[in-house]
Amino acid sequence: MVRETAVSPDDFIYPLFVTHGRGIKKEISSMPGCYQESVDKIVRSTKEIHSLGIPSILLFGIPEYKDEKGSSAYDERGVVQKAIKAVKDAVPELYVITDVCMCEYTSHGHCGIVEKGDVNNDKTLKLLAMEAVSHAKAGADMVAPSDMMDGRVAAIRAALDEAGFSGIPIMSYAAKYASAFYGPFREAAESAPKFGDRRSYQMDPANRREALKEIALDIEEGADIVMVKPALSYLDIISDVKSSFDVPVAAYNVSGEYSLVKAAGKMGWIDEKSIMMEILTSIKRAGADLILTYFAKDAAKILNG
Ligand code: PBG
Repeated sequence: MVRETAVSPDDFIYPLFVTHGRGIKKEISSMPGCYQESVDKIVRSTKEIHSLGIPSILLFGIPEYKDEKGSSAYDERGVVQKAIKAVKDAVPELYVITDVCMCEYTSHGHCGIVEKGDVNNDKTLKLLAMEAVSHAKAGADMVAPSDMMDGRVAAIRAALDEAGFSGIPIMSYAAKYASAFYGPFREAAESAPKFGDRRSYQMDPANRREALKEIALDIEEGADIVMVKPALSYLDIISDVKSSFDVPVAAYNVSGEYSLVKAAGKMGWIDEKSIMMEILTSIKRAGADLILTYFAKDAAKILNG
């Protein structure tokens, strides 16, 4: 009766990795229980996700081809675009969010256009806007830019409005840290940078006040939901954001946070299910309204009893 925090499947957004081809469902070795799936297999998975009471998915693409400009990111026949259509046809009630970024689609693995060994912020904005519009055209319900370029929320908002998608909201990865917790994801999405790192565009894990500045800028530019990422080492940031702003707050319980628990669980060193529920509860308690988590299905099964 006096419990302050309740986690529900309603809080979850489940990330999925869609790859090209047919009949493919390949487990990601560092993320047991997560898969790269072709469009036909993703459709099957989304039926199960929906039946568990999880309202939403976040789509990442592993494209057929990569180039310097990440052209497959805004290709009408790209893998994410195809997946959006197929999922919305099969399970229309499932809310489909797409990750908007360049790193999965560029040959160098950076989140934007590279010039003289570094990402060119302003030239990248146009491509991100094209990617977001192509997702909306395919039927996405919301877009989620994760690249961390300055000004991208405004650029995407303007492009969506101009293309007739003023009703499509933006969830921005507003406070995204340059974190080693993304390690397993880069295997999953085949998006590790070929040189250097992402520290010129992602945030320094040592900074707390800067997160509030990044969030304020994104809200000013038109973000409807703001995200803190990763979640577990950044509960203070989630709490700060929740108390400082009045938009919904999402937290991304990222790949490394998932893999740690899965690995220790496999070794029999921890009680995996209890730890999973404790982690999700702590993220909610810190202030997250929405939790992006690879645990969504496992946790929903427990919560549904
Ligand atoms: C793309 C992106 C990343 C993640 C989500 N979108 C990786 C990165 O920034 O390198 C990480 C998700 C996870 O670790 O689960 N930019």
